[in-house]
Amino acid sequence: MTLPDITYTLRTASPAKTRAEAVVVGIGQGAKAVEVTVGAEDVQAAYGRRWRGMLATLGVSGKAGEVTRLPAGNEIGAQLLVLVGLGKPGADGTYSADAVRRAAGAAARAVPNATSVAVSLPADTPDLVRAVTEGYVLGGYTYNTYKSNNGKSGKDSSGPSDVAILSAIARRTDAVTAFEEAQILAQAVAGTREWVNVPPADLTPPAFADAIAHVAGLVEGVETTVYDEEQLAELGCGGILAVGMGSAAKPRLVELTYSPDDARGHIALVGKGITFDSGGLTIKPGSSMSTMKSDMAGAAAVAQATFAIARLGLPVKVSAFVPMAENMVSGSSYRPGDVVTHYGGTTVEVSNMDAEGRMVLADALVRASEVSPDLIIDVATLTGHMVMALGDRVSGVLGSEDVVDRVLAAADVAGEQMWPMPIPEWMDERIRSSKVADLNQHDWIRWGGGLYAAAFLREFTGGLPWAHLDIAGPSFNSGGASGHLTPGGTGVAVATLVDYVREMATDQ
Ligand code: BES
Ligand code: ZN
Ligand code: MN
Repeated sequence: MTLPDITYTLRTASPAKTRAEAVVVGIGQGAKAVEVTVGAEDVQAAYGRRWRGMLATLGVSGKAGEVTRLPAGNEIGAQLLVLVGLGKPGADGTYSADAVRRAAGAAARAVPNATSVAVSLPADTPDLVRAVTEGYVLGGYTYNTYKSNNGKSGKDSSGPSDVAILSAIARRTDAVTAFEEAQILAQAVAGTREWVNVPPADLTPPAFADAIAHVAGLVEGVETTVYDEEQLAELGCGGILAVGMGSAAKPRLVELTYSPDDARGHIALVGKGITFDSGGLTIKPGSSMSTMKSDMAGAAAVAQATFAIARLGLPVKVSAFVPMAENMVSGSSYRPGDVVTHYGGTTVEVSNMDAEGRMVLADALVRASEVSPDLIIDVATLTGHMVMALGDRVSGVLGSEDVVDRVLAAADVAGEQMWPMPIPEWMDERIRSSKVADLNQHDWIRWGGGLYAAAFLREFTGGLPWAHLDIAGPSFNSGGASGHLTPGGTGVAVATLVDYVREMATDQ
């Protein structure tokens, strides 16, 4: 895992007095002037009358993402002062958890070689403690596995370091819990980024299944079953096999269960695990193919969310289903006109080998419905249509109204942007238009392709409450680091799934 070796502590200490190589202080665009954020007032006080002039000279504006580093004199305990912008506060004068999470992420990259850092960002509620912790852990994520010398130049110290998160409520048990849980969640998000970032030749379905089974073995209470191509044939998982048979690397299905004694509910999770999507015989243009190692981001998110839920000890049973295949071009690829029989017997006429996600998900959704969960959530990098509709930072949520509503509420708590999309009732006609099979995989009508895909998936949910998260846009960041977001895999949906389950745990 490419997270720096950091030990985190939560402390009540004053940022001006703390001895550390660097102290991070939040700066906001207050109503009248640039302001230090709550908890960091004594740093300003230590500089006295020189503070305002100093910020003005440096051009510090407090806008979100702004990072200013200056050597600290004798005024404060730290050698280096790092000012991180939070933007404008809300109407009540406080900064949102989202703004704090982003600022903490930027702070993590500001002093990569410091061996001790104290972070004074708004952290006077458990939610803000969570945001600072998550943001700092995730903002420091890098992917250097394939850089010679792991991307380090000789000069870097980059040894283990200590990061103290300063909070006025550090001694409260709810703050300590938020701090510890945030680290578990952030590790799951980072683990998801890591799997997405691995080059596809090194994360084939067998390798990915092994990787999940390996981590599952380290998490108490999680049971794993891996089905290989022969067992998939015995089960009758025709969709996973059809997509997987064009590749030299054979398909897999991984099933995970976390079944606590005190379970108050049961959720089934399903994640699309296409380890590389060439588009198959309906091959993608090169530019669209270039990031298709990320087509297993849903699978990674679902597996890592299951691990996080187990590590948090949440009292909800989780059954996770992760179908994996590589969508390739060869003499054994599936082809237009083929009819696939899915697990459970539904037949599908296929016409677009690039609509492979729904093929592997269909088998897995039926498997999920068989364990009689209270609900199913699937997570998939499913359609470019959703990227066109919502852009690359917002996920689409489709399915049963009640589950969709709860997903949106969980996303809000988790700090992930999601938006509801409809499954119009007339889509049923389009998905049933095959003259030779029960369902039509695809109909070459471009409009509403993301909604068509969801209508198709719904056929395999056994009528259970269900939501589908199309994360095609937000799963991969092709740009640079920004806030807690880093280049490559983003780990989107993990936090929302965990918060969904947290909320279920409080249900009657
Ligand atoms: N993996 C892609 C979707 C995708 C697109 C993910 C862009 C991330 C970024 C998926 O398998 C796919 O190819 N979808 C088709 C659907 C169509 C054939 C109905 C698409 O987007 O064109
Ligand atoms: Zn795909
Ligand atoms: Mn595809």
